[in-house]
Amino acid sequence: MALFVCLLFFFLASFTSACDRCVHRSKTAYFSNDSPLSSGACGYGPLALGFVDGHLAAGIPSLYKEGVHCGACYQIRCKDKKICSKTGTKVILIDQNVQSNRTDFILSKKAFSAMAQKGHQKNILRRGTLDIEYKRMPCEYKKQNLSVRIEESSQKPHHMALKFLFQGGQTDIVLVHLHPVNTGRTAFMTRRHGTAVWEIDTVPEAAVMFQIRVISGFDGMWINAERAVPADWKPGMIYDLGVQIDTIAKGQENCTKCDEGHW
Ligand SMILES: *[C@@H]1O[C@H](CO)[C@@H](O)[C@H](O)[C@H]1NC(C)=O
Ligand SMILES: *[C@@H]1O[C@H](CO)[C@@H](O)[C@H](O)[C@H]1NC(C)=O
Ligand SMILES: *[C@@H]1O[C@H](CO)[C@@H](O)[C@H](O)[C@H]1NC(C)=O
Repeated sequence: MALFVCLLFFFLASFTSACDRCVHRSKTAYFSNDSPLSSGACGYGPLALGFVDGHLAAGIPSLYKEGVHCGACYQIRCKDKKICSKTGTKVILIDQNVQSNRTDFILSKKAFSAMAQKGHQKNILRRGTLDIEYKRMPCEYKKQNLSVRIEESSQKPHHMALKFLFQGGQTDIVLVHLHPVNTGRTAFMTRRHGTAVWEIDTVPEAAVMFQIRVISGFDGMWINAERAVPADWKPGMIYDLGVQIDTIAKGQENCTKCDEGHW
């Protein structure tokens, strides 16, 4: 009987469970200057340097997910109690880390030093590489709605390319539909492979309402814009969609170390 109980316990314990915030262990390094990040694989360009106060990250391919995780937020803290703060820092993913498979992230210098306890910024930078733990977190944009920025390569009526900015919550965009306000017909955008850029080659002539499909773990939902992108949109402009995403659906990933607390 004792053996049976013991085996049963082992059997149950070996099951992992679905979790919103799996805690991962790895290492991180940092970029000594910002230029690699302003040409990050997501394609945000120099715009990225202004995201989340410059707390930027490049993630290994398993985190980057061919660009699907562009714009995702992570909380990262280093583990040396002498120099690292308990909270660590919150970063946004804007690039793929193909330089090193020994560190899950490479951070901007600003994000890296933000993991330090007061007065230890220099010590932390001197280390170069640190042991960390991290978890995905919802992105929070209290003062901004989900928006689209039209790419410079866009040209009516043949091509429209754009990026989503200020995507709140803990979600990934998987489909983008356009509904011209004058017709009932739906147009579909496609993601430029490996980036955060969505494109379409037949641009509707009217103003368009966006409808996007986001997933969070197993759950998917449609987000309907409340404001149209006007018919006279221009490259380089940012258009507010009038909605924000705050979804954190249950069961993002499987893990043994799930963390619902606050660091
Ligand atoms: C990491 O990169 C090194 C050098 O390129 C390679 O030899 C090694 O197999 C890689 N490890 C993994 C786990 O991909
Ligand atoms: C976000 O959208 C709502 C609804 O359209 C609007 O009332 C609000 O002013 C927008 N917020 C910002 C910061 O523009
Ligand atoms: C988590 O594990 C369960 C049970 O093995 C499985 O059914 C489910 O698909 C997994 N979830 C994810 C997000 O991988």
